Amino acid sequence: MTADRILGIETSCDETAAAVVRQGTDVMSSVVSSQIEIHQRYGGVVPEVASRAHVESIMPVIAQSIVEAGIEDHEVDAIAATHGPGLVGALLVGVSAAKAMSLVWDVPFIGMNHLESHLYAAFLEEPDLEMPLVVLLVSGGHTMLIVMEDHLRYRVLGSTLDDAAGEAFDKVARFMDLGYPGGPVVDRLAIDGDPTAIRFPRAMANDGWDFSFSGLKTAVVNHVRKHPDADVNDVAASFQEAVADVLVGKARRAAQEVGAKGLCLAGGVAANSRLREKTLDVCVEDGYRAFLPSRAMCTDNAAMVAAAAWWRLQADGPSPLDIGANPSLRLPVS
Ligand code: KG4
Ligand code: ZN
Repeated sequence: MTADRILGIETSCDETAAAVVRQGTDVMSSVVSSQIEIHQRYGGVVPEVASRAHVESIMPVIAQSIVEAGIEDHEVDAIAATHGPGLVGALLVGVSAAKAMSLVWDVPFIGMNHLESHLYAAFLEEPDLEMPLVVLLVSGGHTMLIVMEDHLRYRVLGSTLDDAAGEAFDKVARFMDLGYPGGPVVDRLAIDGDPTAIRFPRAMANDGWDFSFSGLKTAVVNHVRKHPDADVNDVAASFQEAVADVLVGKARRAAQEVGAKGLCLAGGVAANSRLREKTLDVCVEDGYRAFLPSRAMCTDNAAMVAAAAWWRLQADGPSPLDIGANPSLRLPVS
């Protein structure tokens, strides 16, 4: 089954988002209502607060996405919503809205995997991406090294054994009282810091495909405790350098091993300046393409949900209306 215009809905964490995408690539609208300010005072996402904020924003955000797309309700051909992984109460808001609207408008409903949606962010801006692709999926909840063999066909080479990369950014920033979310703040501070000032550990850098970031986080905490006057910019830059080194080092090896046509970044941490710079350098040196989605497409949004749904609908047809939210949904592997 195919659908021309898909309304995507994303509520897995702290962004309420809706978008209309045509043919899996043409973004007609993409609305993201961030809850960051609400959660900032708690230093992280509070699940119950997130669910309530989604309930308040979901219908206005959907309405805005349809108005901005310049279409009428009846011109939506299918509705896709993230049903996992994520916070269960938050996911339920998007899934319930999507199911209700699919019944009212009599269009197919597609339950989407958040991780798969992140992989499709790159295709929104580069529809002709050649595969196999090595994708580094780095977000607040996940750190995965994936080979995308073809559309909807993935192989997971490795993932984090403890903290996700984004979680490490958030925890380090929280310890240093820099605010939430930590990634963008550390990224900003690092601009004025020296990445070689402190040699933080690069755990498992040459050891298999998995990652580990909890030791690095502890090393930063210990360093700051021992050197309370350490320059914050230097700590930020040195920490960021260690994360980027490990991530790009492994992705580069993976690309060589599978003969990838390119290296692609996905997920919130893919917005990181140093990670993007290093990925580009490696791709230029090794002679394959780098695909860096725009920063807005790296962090949670609904355009990527609608893009991935376009492929899923063709392959699997609509989802049954009795599927629920699944907080620990895994990436479907081939
Ligand atoms: O993909 P995302 O928006 O939500 C999840 O699915 O987790 O990722 C959010 C994560 C947070 O941990 C945030 O600190 C991190 O992405 N992040 C960054 C940057 N922007 C967002 N990390 C490093 N550098 C950034 N510029
Ligand atoms: Zn995400």
